Amino acid sequence: MDMNKELDTAIQAAEAAGAITLSRLGELSNPEIYAKEPKDFVTEVDRQCEATITSIIISAFPDDSLLCEEGTLNEGTSGRTWIIDPLDGTLNFIHSFPVFAISIALRGADGDLLAGVVYQPILRELFTAAKGMGAYLNGERISISDRDSKESFLIATGLPFKEYHYLDSYVGMLKEVIRDSAGIRRAGSASIDLAYTAAGRFDGFWEYRLYPWDFAAGVLLVREAGGIVTGFDGNSDVFRHHSILAGSSITHPMLLDKAQRHFGDLVGQSAG
Ligand code: IPD
Ligand code: CA
Ligand code: CA
Repeated sequence: MDMNKELDTAIQAAEAAGAITLSRLGELSNPEIYAKEPKDFVTEVDRQCEATITSIIISAFPDDSLLCEEGTLNEGTSGRTWIIDPLDGTLNFIHSFPVFAISIALRGADGDLLAGVVYQPILRELFTAAKGMGAYLNGERISISDRDSKESFLIATGLPFKEYHYLDSYVGMLKEVIRDSAGIRRAGSASIDLAYTAAGRFDGFWEYRLYPWDFAAGVLLVREAGGIVTGFDGNSDVFRHHSILAGSSITHPMLLDKAQRHFGDLVGQSAG
């Protein structure tokens, strides 16, 4: 299926939102920052980005539905859903830590991911993928890492920050990944973690509590770049989970083994 119009529209929307973020970086005032719940923030910039992205997408595809982090709705009839994180890395953005992205994905009526875009405006890096067509960074094909020694792995993760019931499980796994890698990064934007894994910059990524808007585009990028993505239980239906493990044929099994030993009981209880 040709996804050219869908990808072009997602790119146009991501770049328009990216321009908004760049125009406001370092300029936010306190009244423009709200806590949705403790430690979970949204800003006027997140909202402006979401309004811009959704108006571009719904003008082009009025029959599609929307699933957006900040709640914009459209009840379409096509069965297709756009899954949108208008600003992934909001805490970074608030602190002027320049690591954040716009993430836009399209999921088909059968549940398959069809198209995905992650745009990092500061670096003008545009990661794109369409089902069966490979993954690209600024038009150049990207692929998953082929590193095969633990001593060379750079692994990304997301730290627990507002729920603590899995903190001990997380730290148990972290200790093992520290031993089995050259280093670990916590960038603060799951869509960038996944895009960088697709591009072979990171050798793998794991995070326990994510939502579809954080990972939908990044999951397609990693898979189209030749990587493997599952939940912590090894199931590839990532929309059943809040947990994400991504990597190569070497790093994914390594991370999965650790996740199953440290999170096994939790994943069984909650489909985490
Ligand atoms: C967050 C980022 C972060 C991850 C959090 C997400 P937001 O998204 O992706 O890396 O650790 O779980 O909520 O709130 O900045 O869009
Ligand atoms: Ca997010
Ligand atoms: Ca967000």
